[in-house]
Amino acid sequence: MKPSTIILLLLIWLDAIKDVRLDLPGTWEVLVHDARIASMHTVVTRFNTVVLLDRTDLSPSERGYQRYHCHMNQQMQEDLEPRQDCFSYSAIYDLVNPNPRALTISTDTWCSSGQFLPDGTLLHTGGDFDGFKKIRMLTPCDTASFCDWEELDDIELAQGRWYSSNQILPNGSVIIVGGKDAVSVELFPPRTGGGVVNFPFLADAADDQMDNLYPYVHLLPNGHIFVFANNKSVLYDHTNNVVLKQYPQLEGGPRNYPSAGSSVMLALTGDYSSATIVVCGGADHEAYNAMNISAPAKSSCGRIDATAKDPVWEMENMPFPRIMGDMVMLPTGDILIINGAQAGSQGFEMASNPCLHPVLYKSDEPLGSRFMILNPGKVPRLYHSTANLLPDGRVLLAGSNPHSYYNFSTEFPTELKIEAFSPEYLSPEKKFTRPTIIKLPEKIKYGDGFYIVVTGEPPVMGIPKVNIASAPFATHSFSQGQRLVKLAVSLVWSGRLGSYRLACKAPPDGRVAPPGYYMVFVVYKGVPSVAKWTQLL
Ligand SMILES: *[C@@H]1O[C@H](CO)[C@@H](O)[C@H](O)[C@H]1NC(C)=O
Ligand SMILES: *[C@@H]1O[C@H](CO)[C@@H](O)[C@H](O)[C@H]1NC(C)=O
Ligand SMILES: *[C@@H]1O[C@H](CO)[C@@H](O)[C@H](O)[C@H]1NC(C)=O
Ligand SMILES: *[C@@H]1O[C@H](CO)[C@@H](O)[C@H](O)[C@H]1NC(C)=O
Repeated sequence: MKPSTIILLLLIWLDAIKDVRLDLPGTWEVLVHDARIASMHTVVTRFNTVVLLDRTDLSPSERGYQRYHCHMNQQMQEDLEPRQDCFSYSAIYDLVNPNPRALTISTDTWCSSGQFLPDGTLLHTGGDFDGFKKIRMLTPCDTASFCDWEELDDIELAQGRWYSSNQILPNGSVIIVGGKDAVSVELFPPRTGGGVVNFPFLADAADDQMDNLYPYVHLLPNGHIFVFANNKSVLYDHTNNVVLKQYPQLEGGPRNYPSAGSSVMLALTGDYSSATIVVCGGADHEAYNAMNISAPAKSSCGRIDATAKDPVWEMENMPFPRIMGDMVMLPTGDILIINGAQAGSQGFEMASNPCLHPVLYKSDEPLGSRFMILNPGKVPRLYHSTANLLPDGRVLLAGSNPHSYYNFSTEFPTELKIEAFSPEYLSPEKKFTRPTIIKLPEKIKYGDGFYIVVTGEPPVMGIPKVNIASAPFATHSFSQGQRLVKLAVSLVWSGRLGSYRLACKAPPDGRVAPPGYYMVFVVYKGVPSVAKWTQLL
């Protein structure tokens, strides 16, 4: 071949791969270049601020936020003496200010769990060391005010909880499920008389490397809870502490910590009588115990109607294998699968081959045509990274720290950048389709009708959808309490040009949508508005 031919072929090839990249939907941006902490747990509040949380036993990272008081920190290695730490590892970020503000927390938050309470207070439970039984609260505030963590002294968890999952219940109590060596559940506020309720399913699901930590907990619209650990799942009546049903085992290997797949309950819709659970990805069972960072991850997804009489898992493969991915419910009801790696398992120094391509899971499409590969990012987000839906429809990506302490001079360094991924519905050519919510009630009662006033492209092609999304507690590839509910809507044309009203019906009860604050999105032709928050009570 002549050199000119080679150059020509090279140019054609370069042009081709350039086009492939350009064609893939979605865009990336860096929001914060140095957040000072790698967020292991991330939550969006109703004031459009983001609470970032890492472990608090990282001393001396010389990162974090300078605090007023130093305190003694337990060390991870048991033979190390406690060390003085003068940094804080929690912060609040207001989405416009590039400098997050420090929050103060002293007890160890490592691998803790959380959930918003009906009044909008963030409940945060457990962790390691002195945080094992700790209960903490944060009452979010607007960006002009000052709010901070409160670590409760008068009440603690009945059992230490490290790697547990929280889920708000229909009556506004929160159930805290499992954790390392915690084969039980408990409630917040505690049951009369306090204490834990044994939940042997978690022990039954464990294998030789646990695989039952951070269980996937979903409140079904029938009021019972779907709990998934390893490859097993049950329908649990939390009121009477009875397992009502065992689902078939999910093939394709373990799915929970330390073999992190991820899981969502698809958007609830129609008469809210059914609920579908999806579990995707995970590690090879041989990866964790052997510390094999090159054992390929799993690409399999299972999907099951958890409310069917004789449910079966429907299997399908993602375009990439993935561990430590995050499944984020978008305002449309589709799922964004993002972050994670293609080999290894979950834990410190346990993974390799980052999966930089997000994937869209189109939940309403039939088997075989649900996945779409999206524009890849550049920042590996492995162990201890998070993904959260923002009220403007973007997805916030934070964290990644696959090391016991902060380490910036290694192959997958501790990641302090915060980024946002914009799904295709935010692309410029869809700008004019994007609805704008003008008016929405601040509070909505179960079963009530209410109106939303909207401006934007006149909805001549079908009725816009109104979907309400909870703000989950994202950590370890599972977003605790994540929920999207599609409301019944009818269109009411108003006299005024350019605006219209949507007559909506609130969810019937707390089983469909537990009490608390929700982001309300109007979605027209697949393009969501910026959400406004409302309190469901
Ligand atoms: C909420 O429901 C649970 C039953 O699952 C019950 O044990 C608890 O006491 C209830 N909480 C309140 C505040 O009524
Ligand atoms: C579920 O996990 C157990 C324990 O690891 C294993 O023995 C069993 O074969 C798995 N089931 C399926 C269907 O893969
Ligand atoms: C790690 O996993 C790969 C792929 O499964 C396998 O080929 C290799 O032998 C494993 N290495 C060890 C040390 O077990
Ligand atoms: C960071 O990681 C590198 C590579 O694994 C290691 O050699 C180094 O000791 C680590 N540094 C710290 C401060 O832990």
